[in-house]
Amino acid sequence: MFRSIRCLILLMGLCMAGPLAADPPPHGVATPHPLATEAALEILARGGNAFDAAVAVGAVLAVVEPYGSGLGGGGFWLLHEGETGRQIMVDARERAPLAARSDMFMDDEGEVNRDRVMNGPLAAAIPGTPDAVDHIARKYGALPLSVLLEPSIRLAREGFPVDPIYHRLTSFRRDTLREWPEAAAVFLDGGEVPEEGFVIRQPDLALTLERLAESGRDGFYRGPVAERLIQAMDEAGGIWTEEDLSSYQVVEREPVTFGYRGMRVVSAPPPSSGGIALAQALQVLAHVDPDAGDDAARVHHQVEAMRLAYHDRARYLGDTDFVPVPVERLTDPHYAAGLAATIHPRRARPSDQLPGVTDVPGGEDTTHFSIIDARGNRVSATLSLNYPFGSGFMPAGTGVVLNNHMDDFTAAPGAPNAYGLMQSMANRIEPGKRMLSSMSPTFLEMDGRIAALGTPGGSRIITMVMLAALEFHKGADAERLASLPRFHHQYLPDHIEHEPDALDDDLKTSLQAKGHALEARSRPWGNLQVVIVEPDGRFEAAADPRGVGTASSESRSLAPCQ
Ligand code: DON
Repeated sequence: MFRSIRCLILLMGLCMAGPLAADPPPHGVATPHPLATEAALEILARGGNAFDAAVAVGAVLAVVEPYGSGLGGGGFWLLHEGETGRQIMVDARERAPLAARSDMFMDDEGEVNRDRVMNGPLAAAIPGTPDAVDHIARKYGALPLSVLLEPSIRLAREGFPVDPIYHRLTSFRRDTLREWPEAAAVFLDGGEVPEEGFVIRQPDLALTLERLAESGRDGFYRGPVAERLIQAMDEAGGIWTEEDLSSYQVVEREPVTFGYRGMRVVSAPPPSSGGIALAQALQVLAHVDPDAGDDAARVHHQVEAMRLAYHDRARYLGDTDFVPVPVERLTDPHYAAGLAATIHPRRARPSDQLPGVTDVPGGEDTTHFSIIDARGNRVSATLSLNYPFGSGFMPAGTGVVLNNHMDDFTAAPGAPNAYGLMQSMANRIEPGKRMLSSMSPTFLEMDGRIAALGTPGGSRIITMVMLAALEFHKGADAERLASLPRFHHQYLPDHIEHEPDALDDDLKTSLQAKGHALEARSRPWGNLQVVIVEPDGRFEAAADPRGVGTASSESRSLAPCQ
């Protein structure tokens, strides 16, 4: 009898996602920061669904990873509603200000002014994250935004300790932060990089989050916060207007969906290049027997598929609200079959033998988390300020450090961006346009297994997700997907970049013999967060061992009730 009552309570606790539940119901959560994972568990335990937890996590990451994402940035939130099976990409990508012009970063000598496109007010586009958290909470959440923002407000006010990643990225951007006194006062310690353990408090950000909690999107895009943003912009030589802020809206878009050898892949549509590039690369690889040949043959084909996908990325992609992009053609399996036929099985194709791009007319920064709840709701979200601490510019009295996503546009024909990406005039700056992204929050489905995954990493995001997808296809578990060694090719520059230990000496020699140039990076890259649901309903979650993130998974167990 005792056993069955206990069993009932246990079952009720597991099934009820009500506010009385002390422990979170079954879930899988993987985030890049322990405090964000804790916030997700708190919200799930209070009766929130995966969408609520995602809003809370996004807001906490804005506080504890101020270098990676935040209210001053944007991103892509891929959602799956358990009840309806509907999949939605909430596009919260930043938009160019309405006063932006295609040549705004060119200097008198006709060169791109790299400082202006990376640092300070002109580098910042109109943020999307504040609208995204309001939109997702209102439309998909079960709890009010005011509850979901509690953990972030608490952490902004009470502070969080500096960890090794904060220390490293602040060292990297120290000089830019020093140029902006508001940012320096919050993120540095007397103008110096704070030691590990130093507590970062953000009272102004707490107030801004409170306004968002009270008034939703209007708490950011209108009223006192908006006024401060515009005033600071005006004083610092920026070009934002009230209309830029009040007219900003997230857009719900249909994700890019395609198949790879029995696996369904759901990923980011334009203005991200992620879904299209993944569709091309994986559908090209579908024409190569994955078990034929040795490791060198496998890596060779994967690299050639990457090269072709990034080549088309460079030629065709931009914001589909502004330019025609042949999405259907680029994601068509027949098109991939044609591309696959051009790959030489044993020789690298020099990128300069592909049609040029300039003649076509006209790691840790950024963040990702994955959450799946017991009702089958899924979120895979990649959010960003672009470079660590974005533009470094923090309008006085807001606590919000602004992105430098203007650099993801094509600043001039043939001019690569900070990630070395060549892009066409389809991605040139236009007023109100969204800049091309590589962010690729993704869902994978194969034989009843489901994964939600993604990672930061600039141009390397797509290849990280691609390598993880190929491994998921082979049945790999969450830990393996997160820790997988990484290599990358992006058409230009024409070399295979690889993590220090990703390729062994024999493999390197064989790849060089096929004509590939190799470029070892001094550090590993990426911070992949993945949640998997097994066909029996078991949750698995893993945070990339390269970062400081944590994963939590709790599966429904009926064992005591048998
Ligand atoms: O949207 C993009 O593609 C980039 N701005 C993302 C930047 C990023 O992932 C930086 N992380 N290391």
